This record gives sequence, C-alpha cells and structure tokens, in this order.
Amino acid sequence: MSKTIIKDLKNHVGEEVTLNGWVYNKRSIGKVWFLILRDGSGMTQCVVVKGEVDDAVFDLEQTLTQESSVSVTGLVKEEPRSVGGYEIGVTNVQVHQVAEEYPITPKEHGTSFLMDHRHLWLRSKRQSAILKVRHQIIKATRDFFDNNGFTLVDTPIFTANACEGTSNLFAVDYFERSAYLTQSGQLYSEATAAALGKVYCFGPTFRAEKSKTRRHLTEFWMVEPEMAYYNLDENMDLAEQFVEYIVQWCLEHCKDDLEILERDTSKLENVKAPFPRVTYDEAAKILEKNGADFTYGSDFGGTDETIISEQFDRPVMVHRWPAEIKAFYMKRDADNDNLALGVDMLAPEGYGEIIGGGQREDDLAILECRIKEHDLDMKDFGWYLDLRKYGSVPHSGFGLGIERTVAWITGSKHIRETIPFPRTLARLEP
Ligand code: 4AD
Ligand code: MG
Repeated sequence: MSKTIIKDLKNHVGEEVTLNGWVYNKRSIGKVWFLILRDGSGMTQCVVVKGEVDDAVFDLEQTLTQESSVSVTGLVKEEPRSVGGYEIGVTNVQVHQVAEEYPITPKEHGTSFLMDHRHLWLRSKRQSAILKVRHQIIKATRDFFDNNGFTLVDTPIFTANACEGTSNLFAVDYFERSAYLTQSGQLYSEATAAALGKVYCFGPTFRAEKSKTRRHLTEFWMVEPEMAYYNLDENMDLAEQFVEYIVQWCLEHCKDDLEILERDTSKLENVKAPFPRVTYDEAAKILEKNGADFTYGSDFGGTDETIISEQFDRPVMVHRWPAEIKAFYMKRDADNDNLALGVDMLAPEGYGEIIGGGQREDDLAILECRIKEHDLDMKDFGWYLDLRKYGSVPHSGFGLGIERTVAWITGSKHIRETIPFPRTLARLEP
C-alpha cells in the first residue's frame, strides 16, 4: 500500500488517511485546535476537536512543538479556505518525537545564521520550493539530451590536467603525486564524442574561486554536451533549444513552486528560440553606448553582463571573443585569427552567464602551439592530442551551470540558495 501524501489529498476526499510529517505550526481556539502539517509534498490543516478524539490526543496541543514528527490520521474534506484546499478531521495523532526548541522561527533571521542552519533551513517553504525547481531543471536537462540522441558519458572527477586555466585548481594528494578536482569534463567529453557522436556529461565540478560574488561556488554542477561535426552556429542552435526546453518545462511543471517563490513568470514566458546573437565587438559597443566602465579586450564583469542582457527580452548569446581571454582549446575564427569561436549565454534580468562553450581547435599542430602559449605541460595532454591524430573532426560543445540556471529560473538573487549544501570560499559546513 502506498502512503498518502498531502499533494495527493484531492484523490482521497471522504476517506480516512494517515499522513506522516512534521508540525509546521499550530493554533488553538479553545475546544478546537489546528495543526498545520508539512510532509515535503505540501501543507495541510488538521483539525482536532475536543470530544472527537481521545483526551490524550486533544492534550497534545500542549506538548507538540514546531517540527515535532507526527503521523496524523483523519478524514479528508474539501476546504477551500484552508491551506492547500483540503482539511483533515483528526481521529488520531501518533507522536514520533517532540522536537526541541527549533532554532528557525517565523521571525527574521540573518543570512549567516540561516546558512549555519542550512540542514534545517531546507525545510522552509521557500528553500523547499527552490530544491523542487532544481530537481525539475535537472530532469528537463536529462530528458532534453536523452530525447535528442545524446549518450550520457560520465567523466572523471580526479584529473591530471587543467581544462579551464591553472589559477583556480583544487589540488589533492593522490598517492605519490597530486591530482586536481575537475573544473570541467569537456576534454574527456571530446574523447567520448569521437566515440559516440553526441554525448553529454553531468556532474559536480570544482573551482578554487577566491571571489566572493553572488554567482560563484567552489563546487557546482555542470552539464556539458559535446558534438562531433558541429560548428559554432550549430552549437548555438542547440544551446538555445536546450534553454528554451528547460524554461518551458519549468513553467509547465513548477507552477506551485514558482508561485511560492513569487517569481514573475511573464519574463520566463519569452524564453523561446531563436535567441539574439551578438559578437563580442557588438556587445562591447553596447557597453560603450551605456557608459559602462569597461576596457575592450577584457572579460565582462557582472555589471557589464547585466547591461548587455537588459537590451533583450530573452537570453543573449555573445560569440567571437578576444582569443587571449579564452581557453587554449578554442578554435580561432577563420576570418580573424584574434578571435576565438567561443560563446557565452547571458541570462536576462541580470542573472549573468549561464553557458560557456564554443567550437574546439581540431588541428594537431595549432593545438600543440596553444598548449605551449598557455604554459601548460604537453605531457598532461598526450591523450587529448591523440584525438587530433586519429580522425579529427570539427566539433563543439558547451557547459551550463545548474546553480546559475536555478538562480535565474527561481528568481534567487544569491547562488548559495540554489544547491542543498553550498560550498564557497568561506563555507564548508554544514
Ligand atoms: O564558462 P565555463 O568556465 O566553461 C567551461 O567550463 C567549459 N569547459 C564548458 C564546455 O564547453 N564544456 O563554465 C561553464 C558554466 C558557466 O557559464 C557558469 O554557468 C558555470 O559553468 N560556472 C559556475 N557556476 C557556479 N560557480 C562557479 N564558480 C562557476 N564557474 C562556472
Ligand atoms: Mg565562462
């Protein structure tokens, strides 16, 4: 027999059910008291009436505290005025544990207090809603690639080489030598794309980010598709279809949670392909026109990204970047060797870069040159160079950061609320 959950009460009107959950709140009006129960799927009001239950059950009003764990049995009734639209006419309450005084009360708490109690804070309405949207974003991500002919190929977390530059690597002892926690599965995905055509990897990635911004974590989840025989334009086509799919999926399947989060969904409704595409040079002109404090040739800062994205009603893709500020593996533009065929996708409403990717250098000699120019150790890239020796083809891919995407879709100003247990410069606990 499956257990009844609050979300499914609509299927049990007129029946007696038992709900397992936690006391969210309670309130008494003398001969009647109300227990607001939460069970992770929703909340419902349980009504306890003197004379209709054993006195011992009625008297629980005195002992039950916030977050006490209970199983409530009772009759399901429709009640439009009650939270969730249903109500339980209680016949019995079984207490599992009476909770100690709960540190998180309905009063305002500071962020650092809440982050110290993250293991409990996750129970709040808002945090639970974010986690549910995150789950749907991940589900939509997997569905999109699975339904479009991609094979999921997991890439290693311990690596010997640097994919995204050497300045933010986490080194760990690895027996007699040292290894790095992966910054990106891309180089391995390039190998698996040559084996399987269209692949994606999806897992945790690590950056020793010294910056304390609202967009950076040291551990974040990234999905990285990689496609053989795709050029930059085809890569951008895929990226926009993918992001449209995730957003439209969430609009359809996360209505209740987006409402709890008070997300203005009209802004998300616009997120339909095609997305605007501008070159780095065009983006730089937008910044100049808007009086941004920006030097041509540098990467965009958070404010710059906001100014650029404000020009559009959906995500914008910025492509063809100054090669010096992009990674060693990027192919150069055939029309201008100073430009790398990279692309960043900037989310609207100031949520910043959610995707980074591009077309990869597929020529052996050029790639060897780039590795030298970037002061990387050739011997770490022996296997990667092999991919250019044995059937090299034009290929492209990108990485989408899950937490930045969750921040955007849920309307969360800070990335720390988009992952159950965030890891940042200053935080390793809980
Ligand atoms: O732009 P990035 O560094 O690109 C890569 O790692 C490529 N190798 C991906 C590829 O082509 N396969 O990172 C990709 C995305 C960013 O756009 C951002 O969404 C996210 O990963 N990201 C971070 N998210 C949270 N905290 C950080 N410190 C992040 N760094 C990157
Ligand atoms: Mg990037």
